[in-house]
Amino acid sequence: MSWLVTGAAGYIGAHVVAALRAEGEMVVALDDLSTGKSERLPRDVNLVRASVADRDEIASLLGDQEIEGIIHLAARKSVEESVRDPIGYYTRNVAGLACLLDAVASSPTRPFVFSSSAAVYGTPSGGRVDEGSPTKPESPYGETKLAGEWLVRAAARAHGLRWAALRYFNVVGAASPALADAGTENLVPRVLTALAENRPVQVFGDDYPTRDGSCIRDYVGVEDIARAHVLAARALRAGQDVGVLNLGRGEGATVLEVLDEIGAVSGRPVDYEIAGRRPGDPAEVVARVHRAERVLGWRADQDLADMVRSACRAFARRHPGALPGLSTSAPGDLASRSRRP
Ligand code: WQD
Repeated sequence: MSWLVTGAAGYIGAHVVAALRAEGEMVVALDDLSTGKSERLPRDVNLVRASVADRDEIASLLGDQEIEGIIHLAARKSVEESVRDPIGYYTRNVAGLACLLDAVASSPTRPFVFSSSAAVYGTPSGGRVDEGSPTKPESPYGETKLAGEWLVRAAARAHGLRWAALRYFNVVGAASPALADAGTENLVPRVLTALAENRPVQVFGDDYPTRDGSCIRDYVGVEDIARAHVLAARALRAGQDVGVLNLGRGEGATVLEVLDEIGAVSGRPVDYEIAGRRPGDPAEVVARVHRAERVLGWRADQDLADMVRSACRAFARRHPGALPGLSTSAPGDLASRSRRP
């Protein structure tokens, strides 16, 4: 029996495939390669190139492949892009999910793991959020993730699906260069690209009510995120109720602290300049992760240095010479801390 992983050739999807296989689970990978990269998957993985909205393809997969459950990661995930293209985001992230659920619900009930996001919280009133905190998404991307949770929950009630919705916080790192985040949206890839191009990083605001004025986020290692998917899938297989889970480290780091860590790990100080605040950026979003620990026995293992180091190493292998000090810099080497020009 196999797990059908949609979005399997994506940054997080490929890590989930690797984690499942490392635990001896069989995988069928589905990806339309619109943003995914087939080279992220081992050659012996059965990759079906299709969209989740391709009802015939999904129906035949569920019919003739031994699929025991679905792990659904296929989605578009850029906050900024979603503001420009809300129709595309609702079509892909919500209508696509509805097509997949329609196919899944009409066959024997199978466990369904849904990739959700901390973006559903929008700007939390107190910074720290648990799964019962108010959800007030502030972007079409976050709205599609919340609507997706509602849809999965309703389908589960109507058709007896066992389900989990995993709310990722800020995912960082890479198990290998091939699995690196090739996106240009999130902080760490943008800093590494700026380092490679010898230009300063823009820090979106240093006047927030935080310890150094820059925003606080809950950065979590991608391998920890992937491990949580295996645990959730197995819990559902065992008939356990899972529901909504925050996947974060439960502690926050400021933007300037992340730049500092990248400088320390890479051996190159990160030059930055302070730009205006980015619309929609909350000052602080940090997960309470007690429920994931209680329900799955999961806690993130990697600390900020671990995940930054894995991101730097993957980046350096893809951009030779970009981070010359990476292999030798002492983690605490103050000379390489970030600095403001
Ligand atoms: C982080 C911080 C920026 C770039 C993400 C997405 C999504 C979700 C988690 C899964 C912010 C600052 C960034 C730059 C900066 N995960 N920044 N300069 O905004 O927390 O949103 O949340 O779905 O990935 O919704 O992530 O990496 O864009 O920004 O100062 O060049 O870094 O202001 O405070 P964000 P991000």
